[in-house]
Amino acid sequence: MQKLHVVVSLLLYLIYLTVSVQSQNSPDAPSMQALKASLGNPENLGWSDPDPCKWSHVQCVNNRVTNIQIGDQNLKGTLPLELNNLTSLTKLEVMRNQLSGSIPSLAGLNSLQQVLFNDNNFAYIPPDFFSGLTSLQIISLDYNPFSAWEITDNLKDASGLQIFSANGANVTGTIPDFLGGDTFPGLTTLHLAFNNLQGPIPFSFAKTSIQSLWLNGQKSDSKLNGSIAVIQSMTYLTEVWLHGNRFTGPIPDLSGLSNLNYLSLRDNQLTGTVPFSVVNLPNLAKLNLTNNLLQGPTPKFDTSKVDVDMIAGTNNFCLDEPGVACDSRVDVLLSTLESVGYPVGIAESWQGNDPCNIWRGVACSGGNITVVNFKYLGLWGTISPNFYMIPSLKQLLLSNNSLTGIIPNELTSLPDLRKLDVSNNNLYGEVPNFRSNVVVITQGNPNLGK
Ligand SMILES: *[C@@H]1O[C@H](CO)[C@@H](O)[C@H](O)[C@H]1NC(C)=O
Ligand SMILES: *[C@@H]1O[C@H](CO)[C@@H](O)[C@H](O)[C@H]1NC(C)=O
Ligand SMILES: *[C@@H]1O[C@H](CO)[C@@H](O)[C@H](O)[C@H]1NC(C)=O
Ligand SMILES: *[C@@H]1O[C@H](CO)[C@@H](O)[C@H](O)[C@H]1NC(C)=O
Ligand SMILES: *[C@@H]1O[C@H](CO)[C@@H](O)[C@H](O)[C@H]1NC(C)=O
Ligand SMILES: *[C@@H]1O[C@H](CO)[C@@H](O)[C@H](O)[C@H]1NC(C)=O
Repeated sequence: MQKLHVVVSLLLYLIYLTVSVQSQNSPDAPSMQALKASLGNPENLGWSDPDPCKWSHVQCVNNRVTNIQIGDQNLKGTLPLELNNLTSLTKLEVMRNQLSGSIPSLAGLNSLQQVLFNDNNFAYIPPDFFSGLTSLQIISLDYNPFSAWEITDNLKDASGLQIFSANGANVTGTIPDFLGGDTFPGLTTLHLAFNNLQGPIPFSFAKTSIQSLWLNGQKSDSKLNGSIAVIQSMTYLTEVWLHGNRFTGPIPDLSGLSNLNYLSLRDNQLTGTVPFSVVNLPNLAKLNLTNNLLQGPTPKFDTSKVDVDMIAGTNNFCLDEPGVACDSRVDVLLSTLESVGYPVGIAESWQGNDPCNIWRGVACSGGNITVVNFKYLGLWGTISPNFYMIPSLKQLLLSNNSLTGIIPNELTSLPDLRKLDVSNNNLYGEVPNFRSNVVVITQGNPNLGK
C-alpha cells in the first residue's frame, strides 16, 4: 500500500513536471530544435535549454521567437523548412557563415522586417520567397552562389522595403520596372552589382527615393545598356555606381542632384561632352569617368574637393589638358550630334582636336569643313539646326537614317550649300525655301510636306 502510494505520487509529480515545462516552453520550440539540428547542433551557440527563448542570439516576446541573430558564428549546415512556422519572427540574421542548400520559403511571415542572408553558400532562393512578406524592410542576399534567379513581382508585397541588396547573387534578366515608380516609397538602397543583369535602367526609376544605386559590373554578355538619362530625375541620389556596363549616350544634366557624393561611370561607352552641372555638383567627392568615349574639352574639377578617376587618353576628349577649349570646328560638330544622342560609332572615330584628320563623316578643304556625310549611320533623333554654324559646308548628307522632326529653316542660310540629302528618313513639315542652286533630295519621307 505504502509502495503504491509512492509510485502514484511519483507519477503525478512527473506529469506535473512535464505539463509545467510544456507550459513554459515556447510553441516555437519544435521549429527551433529543427533549426538547431539542421545547423548540426553547433556547440558554440550554447543552445541546450529546452526553452529556445533562453538561447543566446535568440529573443522572444510572449514566448514567441522574434529574433534569430546568428551571423558570424562559423556555422555550417542548412536552414530548415520549419522556419516558416516562426510566425512572430521579425529579424532573421545568418550572414557571414558557411550555410548551404536552399533558402527556405519564408512566404507569409508577415512580421518579418529584417533578413540578412549575405556571405554564405546558399545555392537556391525559392521563387515565392517574397510573397506575403508585408513587413519586410531590409533584405540582404549578397555574395551567395545562387543558381540564376530573377526578382519576382511578389516582392511588391513588401511595400515598406528600405534596403534591397543582392550584389554578386546571380540575378538574371532585366531590372524590373516595379523597382521604380511608387511601389516602394521608402526604398533608399538598391544594390544589384556583379550580377547577370541586362537591358536598360527602367524609366520608372525617375520616380524613386533611391539614395544609393549600385548596378556596376554586370557579368552578362550584353551587360546593362542604353541611356543613363533617367538618373537626371533621381534627385535623392547620394551614390550611383554604374561602372563596368555598356551604357551609351551622354551624361545628363545632373544639376538637380544636389546630394550626389559619389558618381562612378567608368568603363562604359558614354559619349558627348561632360555637362557643367557635373563639374558644379556641390557635394561631389568621388567621380570615375575613365574608359568611356566622352568628347569635347577635358573637364576641370576642383581636385581639392573631388577625387577624380579620369585617366588621360581613355576618353575621346579633344585635348588632354583639363579646362582647355576645343577648336571651334570641334565644338560646332559636337553640337550637331546632341539631337541624335552622340552615337557611339561617330564618337569612336572623332579623336583629337582636328576634325579634318580622318573623322568619320567629315571632309574638308584647306581646313574648312565642306562635307558632312552621316548617311546610313542608324541615327535616331532630329536634324540639328547647328549645321548653320559651319559656313563652309557644301554638302550635308543625312539619308537612310531614322531621323524625324522637321528640316530646320536655319540650314537655308548656309552660303556655300550645294546639296542637302535627307532622303529615306521620317521627317515631316514643310521643306524650307533653299536657294535655287541647292539640290534638295527629300524622297522616302512619307510625311514630309504635310
Ligand atoms: C512546421 O513546419 C513544417 C515544415 O514546413 C510543417 O510540416 C509542420 O506542419 C509545421 N508545424 C506547425 C506546428 O506548424
Ligand atoms: C549562375 O547561374 C547559372 C545557372 O543556374 C549557373 O550555371 C552559374 O554557375 C551561376 N553562377 C554563379 C557565379 O554561381
Ligand atoms: C541592349 O542589349 C540588348 C541585348 O541584351 C539588345 O537587344 C539591345 O538592342 C541593346 N540596347 C541598346 C540601346 O544598345
Ligand atoms: C573611382 O574613383 C575613386 C576616386 O578616385 C577611386 O577611389 C575608386 O577606386 C574608383 N573606382 C573604380 C571602380 O575604379
Ligand atoms: C576657308 O574659309 C575661310 C573663311 O570662310 C576662307 O577665307 C578661306 O579661303 C577658306 N579656305 C579654303 C582653302 O577654302
Ligand atoms: C537607302 O534606302 C533606300 C530605301 O529604303 C534603299 O533603296 C537604298 O538601297 C538605301 N541606301 C543605302 C546606301 O543603303
